[in-house]
Amino acid sequence: MNQPLDAFTYRDGELHAGEVPVSEIADTVGTPTFVYSADAIRSAYRRIERAFSPIGAHLHYAVKASSNLHILRLLREQGAGMDVVSCGEMERAWLAGTPMQEIVFAGVGKTEAEQRAALDGRWSPLVDDAERLGGKKIAERGPVGLFNAESESELEVLARVAAELGVVAHSCIRVNPDVDARTHEYTTTGLEENKFGVSWKRVPEIFAAFRDVESIELVGLHVHIGSPVREVEPYQSAVRVLLRLIDTLEEAGHTVSILDLGGGWPMSYTDGESPEIEIFAEALVPLLEERAGNDLKIVLEPGRSILANSGVLLTRVQHVKEGREKTFVICDAGMHTLIRPAFYRAFHFAWPVRVEARHVPPIASEKVDLPDLRPCDIVGPICETGDFLARGRDLPPVERGDLIAVFSAGAYGMSMSSNYNDHGRSAEVMVDGERVTVINERQELASLLETEMAPRELTLG
Ligand code: LLP
Repeated sequence: MNQPLDAFTYRDGELHAGEVPVSEIADTVGTPTFVYSADAIRSAYRRIERAFSPIGAHLHYAVKASSNLHILRLLREQGAGMDVVSCGEMERAWLAGTPMQEIVFAGVGKTEAEQRAALDGRWSPLVDDAERLGGKKIAERGPVGLFNAESESELEVLARVAAELGVVAHSCIRVNPDVDARTHEYTTTGLEENKFGVSWKRVPEIFAAFRDVESIELVGLHVHIGSPVREVEPYQSAVRVLLRLIDTLEEAGHTVSILDLGGGWPMSYTDGESPEIEIFAEALVPLLEERAGNDLKIVLEPGRSILANSGVLLTRVQHVKEGREKTFVICDAGMHTLIRPAFYRAFHFAWPVRVEARHVPPIASEKVDLPDLRPCDIVGPICETGDFLARGRDLPPVERGDLIAVFSAGAYGMSMSSNYNDHGRSAEVMVDGERVTVINERQELASLLETEMAPRELTLG
């Protein structure tokens, strides 16, 4: 399940999520709304798991892609561990039923408070609210299974905090392999010039420096080269760097029991854009299978490859404005709902939800070869020229009140959305067979105003 039109299909000219016409969802809960397919999430998860089963890879879902509690629960039911990058994500993973042991805490800027909460539940910001939110016995909660540390400074603070709390923090070091993932410059993370990880050259001395520190156990290596990665070769290069590093560390007497290869696994925003996950697995399994097993656990952190094509964004056309060369289709979703087109100039296939038979899109692609299309920009209500969902697209005729589906919006859609121009955040809906569930209510204006209701004058110094 890797192409935009796999989980959401046109039947009789109307877009469906499984058996459910998505227009009925929009008519009931309004727009903008993210709609997810539970089946698509499950099958994308299983497909990655199956592809990497020869090396028994453990999947830790990258919560940043979409952190809705119900999506996390669904993935837990499939057996997923969680990869988190903030205390907020960690608490969501835990509230969704993930044992702390199955949580990997990554992120380049962990604060001391976040480390403390990750080591001992008594320090969680939710300590007074956990029961009400469905989490039990937070004060008895032990440490996360693994930290992925990104600097020596972070390890030093972690060692001190763990010692104060009387626990041992298990940690990998995130290695910067200096490998070009050949993806967008904002999502390339494995080059020396990027802020992420520590140079592979420095890893042996860091292992040596922390060898005798009792509150930290360095157990392995982590790498994440970028997202999405559309070629196999950068992963192969990174894996080779890491395997050589493991040899060096073992020769120096260290035990390396975890190799976490991060995320960035392929998915396609247009049909056929990326090779399938199996191609990646076939290229990597031979490099790893000799080492993988009881002594070396392989971890993967997929996010986008599970969620992106499992969700669409529904938006309603508010106005249609004819420009000189193109039509502006002005919608109620924009960069505040889905920032990826504005931020990365990312392509998302977008198409009206109801079309005549001759306008059913055969594939999701940048150019669709159908009769009587008009060049359009699909834009939002935000007061920014960069506020667009799709530019220069040929679309069937659309009118005020029509619904448009923006595809591949399940990952980094809702999780990157904002309240810019004081719009509430969207609703989220899960379709599971015939069941349609609102898994996140639309944010009402009152909740945006609450934190401003009681100004407090500060006495400083
Ligand atoms: N692990 C680490 C350490 C990461 O930094 C990331 C993504 C992942 C796993 C998951 O990568 P995935 O499997 O989802 O590709 N906002 C951008 C993507 C940023 C990704 C950041 N890190 C976008 O919308 O394209």
